[in-house]
Amino acid sequence: MDTVLLTGAASGIGRATAWRLARLGRRCVLVDRNAEALEVLLGQLRGAGGEVAGTSVANASTGNTAVAGTPATKTPAAAAPTASAIDHLAFVADLTDPDQINALATDMPPLDAIINNAGMTDASNLPVIEQTDRDWQRLLDLNLHAPARLLRALRERLTRHARIVNVASGAGLHAIPLRGAYSPSKAGLIAQTQALARAHPDLRVSVLCPGFVQTELVDALIASGRLDPVRAVAKIPLGRLAAPEELACALAFLSSQDAAPLSGGRLSVDGGSSRFGGSQAYVPQTIAPVPCDTPLSLTVHGHWTALADATEDANEDGNVDANPQDGYPAILDASVLDSPPGGRLAATLAAARRHGRASAPGSLTLLLPRAAQGDWEHAGDDAAARMLIATLACEWGPHARRINAVEVASATPDPALSPLLRFVAGAQAQYLTGQTLCTR
Ligand code: NAI
Repeated sequence: MDTVLLTGAASGIGRATAWRLARLGRRCVLVDRNAEALEVLLGQLRGAGGEVAGTSVANASTGNTAVAGTPATKTPAAAAPTASAIDHLAFVADLTDPDQINALATDMPPLDAIINNAGMTDASNLPVIEQTDRDWQRLLDLNLHAPARLLRALRERLTRHARIVNVASGAGLHAIPLRGAYSPSKAGLIAQTQALARAHPDLRVSVLCPGFVQTELVDALIASGRLDPVRAVAKIPLGRLAAPEELACALAFLSSQDAAPLSGGRLSVDGGSSRFGGSQAYVPQTIAPVPCDTPLSLTVHGHWTALADATEDANEDGNVDANPQDGYPAILDASVLDSPPGGRLAATLAAARRHGRASAPGSLTLLLPRAAQGDWEHAGDDAAARMLIATLACEWGPHARRINAVEVASATPDPALSPLLRFVAGAQAQYLTGQTLCTR
């Protein structure tokens, strides 16, 4: 059974991810400093409604020193709602403290994946140069240093080709003022992830950059007046904040073996906000997303035969319309792969014209050849095609229509890409748009 260590599990994105992993039948090792909330979650995952009070958790919640690295319980758990009996574990630890991180190695089972989700924002509202050293350092310790310290502490516990997923933020791509070290910490985490992937090709490493997600963290920013939800939505082509479950789907995917082709890459699940130039204000979306587990209703356009294998219900003639009643409508189009160097932009536009006239929600996923290295004459055309995808995402967002591209190494079908294509095209990725994903 796949065992996944998840930090910041007791709230928001982490809690939704714990539920998602458990429902997928994966074993969770939950880590958080909030003993009480962790205990409730563990109890719920065990199907015991929070009655399970591991001694170390109870001590921590009454103010005594938390016994970092001590499992809240090691007894086999009852079944999660749709999973068979899984012995989920929980550890209480303050991840700003290197000693507590090191102590986690004690009693840790072999791990197939680590999701570094725990993070904090800065609530002081102070300009950077007026930050106290303590607040500045604490945020960096959690958001930037804890993932590296955790990996060092648990390196011996990782199985072969273990997956490491770091949760950064769109704030690591665009600076946010009056949030202290938040943007620098997340930019640092993105760069650290990419450097880790290069240094340890034996690991499968990726970084997730969420946009605004309606969690306790964001609710607190809204309640304190530091985030205006209408102004936030105005910068999001899909016109809404993400639900925690949408990020949970992304983390469950990235922490699985299926995400191997994305290793070393970044996934921005942000409603298209990182691709939008800010020229107009989007209004709140009126089209509700469908449940993440809505089946895929896929039409394949092009001659890449592996695409037909990407889904059991695919048609491979390019003429069959997906029936929305059958599931989440999605189109995979491989036609750009057939275009010559210098013809990518025109082929991308042709694909958009072919499929973009429908106004119903759904997705278009294009396969692109990798941008040619050293081919300066066509570099502009490659970049223009990618920016066209972002432009279309901004135009189609208000209709809840998504467009993304996946770069592939060759026109030869690679079955290892099928799960990735299913994820990008499907309802689990309904907050993903405007992105070009690089595969290895
Ligand atoms: P949250 O505040 O709801 O949950 C964070 C969890 O981390 C809590 O359970 C908390 O107890 C735990 N935690 C905090 N400090 C800790 C420490 N020192 N040691 C151990 N655990 C600690 O946050 P949310 O919204 O679920 O965010 C999760 C991650 O996603 C964070 O890294 C955040 O920066 C990132 N993110 C969130 C976005 C959002 O809109 N909510 C947007 C972009 C990124």
